[in-house]
Amino acid sequence: MSAGIITASYVGATILFILALGGLSNPATSRRGNLYGMLGMAIALVATISGVTANIEILIGALLIGGSIGLVLARRVQMTEMPELVAILHSLVGLAAVLVGFAKFMDPNVHFIGVELTIHDIETYLGILIGAVTFSGSIIAFGKLSGKITGKAMLLPARHWLNLGLLLGSIYLCSLFVDQSAAGGGMMPLLIMTGIALLFGIHMVMAIGGADMPVVVSMLNSYSGWAAAATGFMLNNDLLIVTGALVGSSGAILSYIMCRAMNRKFLSVIAGGFGATTGGGASSASAEDQGEVVAMQAAEVASLLNESKEVMIIPGYGMAVAQAQHIVCEITKALRAKKVNVRFGIHPVAGRMPGHMNVLLAEAKVPYDIVFEMDEINDDFPDIDVSIVIGANDIVNPSAQTDPDSPIAGMPVLECWKSGTTIVLKRGMATGYAGVQNPLFFKENTRMLFGDARTSLDEVFKNL
Ligand code: TAP
Repeated sequence: MSAGIITASYVGATILFILALGGLSNPATSRRGNLYGMLGMAIALVATISGVTANIEILIGALLIGGSIGLVLARRVQMTEMPELVAILHSLVGLAAVLVGFAKFMDPNVHFIGVELTIHDIETYLGILIGAVTFSGSIIAFGKLSGKITGKAMLLPARHWLNLGLLLGSIYLCSLFVDQSAAGGGMMPLLIMTGIALLFGIHMVMAIGGADMPVVVSMLNSYSGWAAAATGFMLNNDLLIVTGALVGSSGAILSYIMCRAMNRKFLSVIAGGFGATTGGGASSASAEDQGEVVAMQAAEVASLLNESKEVMIIPGYGMAVAQAQHIVCEITKALRAKKVNVRFGIHPVAGRMPGHMNVLLAEAKVPYDIVFEMDEINDDFPDIDVSIVIGANDIVNPSAQTDPDSPIAGMPVLECWKSGTTIVLKRGMATGYAGVQNPLFFKENTRMLFGDARTSLDEVFKNL
C-alpha cells in the first residue's frame, strides 16, 4: 500500500472511531456505534500491517497468537466478568507502552541530537510512566473487581505525602534521565522511575474502597488511552496518537460523569482514600441491630403488582448474576398489557460497569423509552405504588443520605422507600459491593422476596 493510501485509511479509521463514540452515547444507536468502531479498527489494522516491510512473519505470528487468546477469552467470559476483562485489557495497553518505551530507548538505529533528543526522551519517559501506572493500577483493579483482593480501601499513614514524594521523585528522575541520555546513558533513572510508577499505580487503586471503584475503572480507561497516545508518539504513528487521545479524553469525560454521579471530587478520588469505612453509624451496624425484615411469597408479589397502577423496576448487579433480564422483560410486557405503567430506574453505577444495566435490558429488548436515568425519575417515587429492586443494594441504600460515617455517604441513591411498597429480590441478607448493611430492608413498607432473582421472577410471572 502506498503512503498516500495508508494516510487516507488512517483518516477514514479516525472518522469511524469518532462516529463510534457518537453512536455509543445513546442505547438506540450503540449497535451502529459498535459496528463503526469494528470497521475503523479493521481498516486501521490492515493499513498498519501493509506498511510493515521487515519481519512480517513475526508480526503475523504475534497477531495469530494474540487474536486467538482474545477470541477464546471473549467467548468464555460471562457478562458479569466483563469489568474484570476490561481492567485486564487496560493493563495490557499499559504494558505495551512500557515495552515500546524501553525498546525505543535501546534502539541503536534511533539517532537524535539537541532539542529533538530532549523531546524524544521526554516522550519516552512519559510513555513509560503513564504505561506503568496504568499497568499496575489495572491489575489491582482486576483483583478488586474479581474479589481476589479486598474491596476495602488500604490507607497508608501519610499517603498524600507519599504520593507527593513519588511525583517529585519522578520529576527529578526525568531531569536526570534527560541529562544522562544526552551523554549516552540514562537507563538507571528510567528503571527507577518505572518502579516508582508501578508502586504509584498499586497505591492509587488500593486506596480506593467502598463504592468508588467505578471512578477508578473509568480513570484507568482514560490512562490507557493516554498510554496508547504516548506509544503513538514513540512509534511516530498518527493514528495511534489520535485513537489514544480519543480514548483518553472520552475516558476523562466518563470519569467526570461518574464523579458527579457519585457526588465525589475528581481530584480527591485520584488522591485516593475515598470509600474508607470509618466505623460507627447505622450503615456499619449488623443486620440484627436493625430490626426484623418481612418476607413475602411470589404469589403475593404477583397480586400486589396486579393491583398497582405505577411500578418502578430498579435493577442491580444481582440481575446480571441471575441473568434475570429476559423474565423481567416478560413481566414488564404482561403488566403493560394490563395497563400498568412500568418504568425502569437506572443508577449510573448499578452493576459493575458503566451502562451495565442498559446493556442487559437492551439485550432482553426492553423498550428504551421506559428506561430512565436516576436523575429523571428520582422525584417520582412518591407516586409509585410498587418498586421492585432486583439484586440491587448499594444504589438503593438510604444510609448514603442519613449516615455521614457511611463509606457511601453523599452518593446519590434511588429513593424507592418513598414509594407505596418496595419489594427487594435477593438471595439472603448479604451486603452489596460497598460492604455496608442496608436499612431499606428493615423499613415498614419493604418486603423481601428471597431467592435467586430469576427463579423468584419466574414464580411471579406464573402467578401473574
Ligand atoms: P450491589 O450493591 O453489589 O448489590 C448486589 C446485590 O445483589 C447483593 O446484595 C446480592 O445480595 C444480590 N444478588 C447477587 N446475586 C443475586 C442473585 N443471583 N439473585 C438475586 N440477588 C442477587 O449492586 P448494585 O446495587 O448494582 O450497586 C453496584 C455497586 O458496585 C456499587 O457499590 C458500585 O459503586 C459498585 N461498582 C460499580 C461499578 C460500575 S461502573 N457500575 C464498577 C465497580 C463497582 P445476596 O448475595 O444476598 O443475594
